[in-house]
Amino acid sequence: MYKNKMVLSVIMSLALLVSACGTKPAEQTSGNAGSGEQPAAATQASKLDAIKKAGKIIVGTSADYPPYEFHKEIDKKDQIVGFDIEIAKEIAKDLGVTLEMKDMKFEGLLPALEAGNIDFIISGMTPTPERQKSVDFTKIYYTAVQRVVVRADDKAKYTTVDSLKGQKVGAQKGATQETIVKEQMPGSEVKAIGKITDLIMEMKTKKIEALVVEQPVADAFLQKNPDLVYADIKLTTEDSGSAIAVKKGSADLVEAMNKTLDRLISDKSIDKFVTEANALVEQ
Ligand code: ARG
Repeated sequence: MYKNKMVLSVIMSLALLVSACGTKPAEQTSGNAGSGEQPAAATQASKLDAIKKAGKIIVGTSADYPPYEFHKEIDKKDQIVGFDIEIAKEIAKDLGVTLEMKDMKFEGLLPALEAGNIDFIISGMTPTPERQKSVDFTKIYYTAVQRVVVRADDKAKYTTVDSLKGQKVGAQKGATQETIVKEQMPGSEVKAIGKITDLIMEMKTKKIEALVVEQPVADAFLQKNPDLVYADIKLTTEDSGSAIAVKKGSADLVEAMNKTLDRLISDKSIDKFVTEANALVEQ
């Protein structure tokens, strides 16, 4: 596979070279000759083409996030399912390529994208201004609110942000929730952990007193863990939307993905995927 990529990039560089030779001198004086940087238009055209040529697109996700993406045993086989995964499949289908999935910690997704190990991220990822500096996002396809989870026994004890002063509050590492705890609960100590499943365990074993997580995900876990409940604590964050991330400078890929998202939003497929994913959580 690596070799194929090499061959492909050699062919592409040759093609670039040939086309560059054919252009008028005025167009060559862009200032980045020899810097290894390609003209934006060429880079943009090549990403989508390269994926189509390879016949495959690689998605990165952190499958600890029901109903977005999670592991489920189906037909005696461990599978990654969820509404994000259904969206990813539709994107691959519209591009006419097969979908390959890579499961990793949420915090590893952006570095993997920038390193070129994956072609896009779908992982309930919020397009924050900070992230927008390093990657490009599609439009938002789903929005959720942030909630605080506590143990049922502590519901009366923890009713305000202040009541959690000096206590440990959990959040997923590298996720917006980590920032939310730091900014909105400055009196609490944030405990950032890579996988949501481990954070739930931390709650159950009383290593943390509260957990900040998106409502659909909290719903999924609360349903299976009656010892955990929503706290009556209001956070002042805005709704957090989810979008797909791609490497910077792949405008044609973003455009193609937005087309698929438009279709899935307008024909209510995403709503259907969410309902189906929730049903899988309940099983
Ligand atoms: N929306 C939050 C963020 O973008 C959390 C996403 C976590 N996703 C996951 N698959 N664990 O940071």
